Amino acid sequence: MAEQRILYAKENYSELDGFLAESNVKKILLVCDNAIRFLKIDDYFNDLEAYSGIKVVRFTDFMPNPQYESVVKGVELFRLESCDMIIAVGGGSAIDVAKCIKLYSNMDSSRNYLTQEIVPNNIDFLAVPTTAGTGSEATRYAVIYYNGEKQSVADKSCIPPAVLMDSSVLKTLPLYQKKSTMMDALCHAIESFWSVNSTEESEQYSEQAIKMILANKDTYLNNTDYGNENMLKAANIAGKAINITQTTAGHAMCYKLTSLYGIAHGHAAALCVSELFPYMFEHTEDTVDPRGKKYLESTFEKIAKAFSCSNVNDAIIKYQKLLRWLDFEAVSIKTADDISILKTSVNPTRLKNNPVRLDQAQIEILYTRILHV
Ligand SMILES: [Fe+2]
Repeated sequence: MAEQRILYAKENYSELDGFLAESNVKKILLVCDNAIRFLKIDDYFNDLEAYSGIKVVRFTDFMPNPQYESVVKGVELFRLESCDMIIAVGGGSAIDVAKCIKLYSNMDSSRNYLTQEIVPNNIDFLAVPTTAGTGSEATRYAVIYYNGEKQSVADKSCIPPAVLMDSSVLKTLPLYQKKSTMMDALCHAIESFWSVNSTEESEQYSEQAIKMILANKDTYLNNTDYGNENMLKAANIAGKAINITQTTAGHAMCYKLTSLYGIAHGHAAALCVSELFPYMFEHTEDTVDPRGKKYLESTFEKIAKAFSCSNVNDAIIKYQKLLRWLDFEAVSIKTADDISILKTSVNPTRLKNNPVRLDQAQIEILYTRILHV
């Protein structure tokens, strides 16, 4: 697949005009949630038909953690309106819905799309991420829910060939969301670095993303255009890293924390990585990576370097200091059963990318530390 094309939004979206003219598009399916109305790009799409003749059909009928049925409605609308391009404006959910609409648009509508073979198609697809975190615009994965069950749809043909980085979308994002999405991206980069699936290419992405996140965190949290644009770039690069490797124990362990305590995904992932980082460094002898203990140790050294630290312990301290500096509200345990609920929530197959073996007893210890029990 050709390298993803990155466009940078200018004041009047002239680069988007150019992109649409090149694509010769007649009608766009705009997959977005209602938060788009707070963004400048909303005006662009409202005005587009009047000055360019390009029609825009909006699809907003989906929720966070999107349902399969919502995707089906999106596919129906795409076909009914004979759209010839999909543009997703949003966080992970909007982009994942758009990815599935693209993948399913050439399938047999009389059968369940989840059971059909994916045949790549050439429908034009642009993503405009509205958070600097998920990296969904850079990965071949989409998560949707079918009958309450999480479904991971994966095919490289759903990676948007083009992404518009629009720093203005981050201006109005609440600070908690900015902090937690930044930590999501940082955890993607770290987890990808130590994943058993890491490659030379993925490690380069991880290194670059870690450096960019640390270098731009202040300007990003101070809401400058420069910081916001660089954080969008960093999250995209971290997304490219997990597109190769997938995530590891941090993400396997964070999902239940999110649903149990109602905290943001990136916040939960950050808490998990904060305890996993030292634990794994102390237990490299328990590695399951076929490249061995020495290789894993050298990976930790590389992570330390990306953190501009001379040794791994300093990098761990730097990470934990960053987390404290972000000053997230403390998560407090609700009932005595929380740890056992959390421990049994971790799907062992999702741990398979983790370089260090973790059994239930170790996971219990880690959750105990995460929650300061
Ligand atoms: Fe994540």
